Amino acid sequence: MPVPLPPAKAAPLSARRDRGLRGGLKPPGDKSISHRAFIFGLLTTGETEVEGLLEGDDVLRTGKACAALGAAIKRLAPGTWKIRGPGIGALAPPTDALDFGNAGTGARLMMGVVGSHGITATFDGDASLRKRPMRRILDPLRLMGAQVLAEAEGGRCPIALKGARDPAPILYRTPVASAQIKSAVLLAGLNARGLTTVIEAEASRDHTEKMLAHFGADVRVAAEGEGRRIELLGRPELAPKPVVVPADPSSAAFPIVAALIAPDSDVLVEGVMLNPLRTGLIATLIEMGADLAVINRRREGGEEVGDIRVRTSGLRGVEVPASRAPSMIDEYPILAVAAAFASGTTRMRGLDELRVKESDRLAAVAAGLAAAGVPSAVEGDDLIVEGGAPMGGGTVATHMDHRVAMSFLVMGLATREPMTVDDASMIATSYPDFRPAMERLGATFE
Ligand code: S3P
Repeated sequence: MPVPLPPAKAAPLSARRDRGLRGGLKPPGDKSISHRAFIFGLLTTGETEVEGLLEGDDVLRTGKACAALGAAIKRLAPGTWKIRGPGIGALAPPTDALDFGNAGTGARLMMGVVGSHGITATFDGDASLRKRPMRRILDPLRLMGAQVLAEAEGGRCPIALKGARDPAPILYRTPVASAQIKSAVLLAGLNARGLTTVIEAEASRDHTEKMLAHFGADVRVAAEGEGRRIELLGRPELAPKPVVVPADPSSAAFPIVAALIAPDSDVLVEGVMLNPLRTGLIATLIEMGADLAVINRRREGGEEVGDIRVRTSGLRGVEVPASRAPSMIDEYPILAVAAAFASGTTRMRGLDELRVKESDRLAAVAAGLAAAGVPSAVEGDDLIVEGGAPMGGGTVATHMDHRVAMSFLVMGLATREPMTVDDASMIATSYPDFRPAMERLGATFE
């Protein structure tokens, strides 16, 4: 398979208000499902075909890691890939360290895979990934019998992990609503004898559970309080199944908010996945008064998808409850941009997890808003944004965070003065086509 390019050197980019955005676009394939497509291909004996895969740097690195563990991976056409896996229990020890670049999801899910496989692998990544907490994954894997042979201070990458030879199935309550923790435990549970159970106090995105069922595993999901209980019977024989990846709602968020705030816009964002555990931003924008309609609802790849028509809208500030965070966790930077154009105050509650994303997103977003002349405050774990008609004209430090970069470029399409980000290169991790796709709608970057 093609080796992902090393991150380009810092590439500043500016966006400025010009004509309205018009036309249609389909965002790239969902990042969460794309990572998992490679991983399920690895863990399934035989050939898995994937359509609509996101060919971003993050996902390609997961593919490369799967190849290092014994999968044969081939790109047949843009977005169409074939993975021939050795299957559960038959993974090869990798010869080199696995480099996940910027990708927390790839690193954490693959730790789950290695953690129950009796092989040793070193997990590493870029400066951003090396800052992210990994104990949340290593703790349950240790309970299953994995050993951490080496780690950087605070349980960070590079981490050498020795998987358990005969992993114990566990019952695990995730300490935070995190699909990555849940998924790491479930993927490890695939090679454990007996029943692995994960209980989450709030439901996080359920792509792993859905794909386990799709590939024929015995997995049961039940409501438990406000959250869920997931039970997986280990050592199934996964059966190859085609994977169709719908468009990523987290990437769709950028053209959607751009069309809401850029004057005189009317955009159709097509084929967006509407999994209810991913649509918190849509619900919030509608509460803010967005002229946004979901049309042509249909099913694709086991998910509901729809086209979203968005027109320039007068927004008003709202209060976003903490309970909504899991369903829009990656969308707060772009919601903060929408809030900057709303009348009144927007308060987003319960954002502690934003501090451990690709950057400290609470701090990065507050600093970006300040650079645009937008008053904001962080109170405890809440972000408060005072909306208005932002002047813009500032430069934003992106801290190796693709979503911070795209959010403030979108902002620049509507501020009076252009907005600049210090480095747009990380956008390639999740939305390689962002700039040309937005330009086709009429956006101006320089
Ligand atoms: C993801 C889960 C979320 C999300 C990330 C993708 C996944 O992280 O922020 O972009 O694919 O499982 P957490 O599990 O840390 O909330």
